[in-house]
Amino acid sequence: MSDKLIIFDTTLRDGEQSPGASMTKEEKVRIAKALEKMRVDVIEAGFPIASQGDFEAVQAVANVVKDSTVCGLARALDKDIDRAGEALKGANSGRIHTFIATSPIHMEMKLRMTPDQVVEQAVKAVKRACQFTDNVEFSPEDAGRSELDFLCRVIEAVIDAGANTINIPDTVGYNVPEQFGVLIRNLIERIPNSDKAVFSVHCHNDLGLAVANSLSAVMNGARQVECTINGLGERAGNASLEEVVMAVRTRQDLFPCDTSLDTTQIVPASRLVSGITGFPVQPNKAIVGANAFAHESGIHQDGVLKSRETYEIMRAEDVGWSTNRMVLGKHSGRNAFRTRLQELGITFDAEEELNAAFARFKDLADKKHEIYDDDLQALVTDASIEAENEHVNLVALKVCSETGETPDAKVTLRVDGEEKQGHSEGGGPVDAAFKAIETIINSGSDLQLYSVNNITSGTDSQGEVTVRLEKGGRIVNGQGADTDIVIASAKAYINALNKIMAADVRAHPQL
Ligand code: KIV
Ligand code: ZN
Repeated sequence: MSDKLIIFDTTLRDGEQSPGASMTKEEKVRIAKALEKMRVDVIEAGFPIASQGDFEAVQAVANVVKDSTVCGLARALDKDIDRAGEALKGANSGRIHTFIATSPIHMEMKLRMTPDQVVEQAVKAVKRACQFTDNVEFSPEDAGRSELDFLCRVIEAVIDAGANTINIPDTVGYNVPEQFGVLIRNLIERIPNSDKAVFSVHCHNDLGLAVANSLSAVMNGARQVECTINGLGERAGNASLEEVVMAVRTRQDLFPCDTSLDTTQIVPASRLVSGITGFPVQPNKAIVGANAFAHESGIHQDGVLKSRETYEIMRAEDVGWSTNRMVLGKHSGRNAFRTRLQELGITFDAEEELNAAFARFKDLADKKHEIYDDDLQALVTDASIEAENEHVNLVALKVCSETGETPDAKVTLRVDGEEKQGHSEGGGPVDAAFKAIETIINSGSDLQLYSVNNITSGTDSQGEVTVRLEKGGRIVNGQGADTDIVIASAKAYINALNKIMAADVRAHPQL
């Protein structure tokens, strides 16, 4: 019987610390539901003391997620721990993750504390967290640059105090695989009460070694890996969930453990996170990149056609690449639409929502004759994005673009219930549309990112647009999809404006 490898996803916390990747409460809930569906064991939903927005997001995730443990991060301070405990009150299963730095440089330069004081504060924090839950994780921050004897001392003390998960972070991504594996083995062997806790690792990717270090740790006794979808995270990111999970699953001949994840949910989750954060996935990214299962060379194609194992170590469908078959068209009925959505795992709470989605589907089918699975996913996501727009909605847009003429846009928006018109010229049709919107809204925000992706192939494909806006240090991402990329762009811009106008967006998640 192989051991269980616990997957702790920190996309909503460390992932959100990527500059520009901030997410709203609703977006966090959407991602948390996708993680729960993937059967992720622990979802770190945020850092409740960081802001009111983060507190509410952790609370919202704790209230909706039933099958995964929901975790909140807290420094080793009473006020942080109390706030995390409060945010997790509604959770079926809640965990408090508390941390304090243990490396000489962090203790001296950042904390200005002696090693004795650090041990005392760590123990106090764990005891306080135990008053809220019996599921307490402790991290000696910058463990990868801490002294082994001191790490052993702190960890033994916090396990005695009640911590049942000990997470070893390579906070600055400094370690290399063999050495990191030896560190984990040494800790487990030397700490007398190590059998009372699960050892976990949390690796950053500054040297491109986060996944390799995590796997080396697993080979040496770690039984929890902290990771993120698409490897999102502070600086160069964290270990990528999809790579860790598939390496362990594919090489069961080497690993003495496995996860209980539904790996077919990996690609949908990757797309969701990429769409919400506006961080594209590079085409050659392992597992979730567009080319991850594409064979270009003739020799490879020939081999795969004869026997797929010649060049394929995993099956694309096992990680959720759908065959993306043409499913529906203009003449498809409501029942066929509902059935295919159900097969894709999309259900509606109310009949009116299905009716609205079906009306959108009919509109799309008028413009695009072959509707693929990816079109359906985009259509449903676009509908939920529009439903979240609280202040501004697009009513109409007319753009003129002609050789030798300056592009020109006329837009009608509904702003808090009132219809308003705007008009502007611009350097291109998208620029003109954004400027026309701004003649009405005057948001004062700066455009930081504008990106367009085609959802399927072909010139009639829907374009999926991400717009990132910044105002007074607050960064938001907006999305929109349409077969007309100028309209998709306007929808994305309007979605971002709604978020800028909402109250709960934070400057930056980390304190
Ligand atoms: O990288 C790190 O050290 C962290 C800790 C809070 C676990 O993110
Ligand atoms: Zn981290």
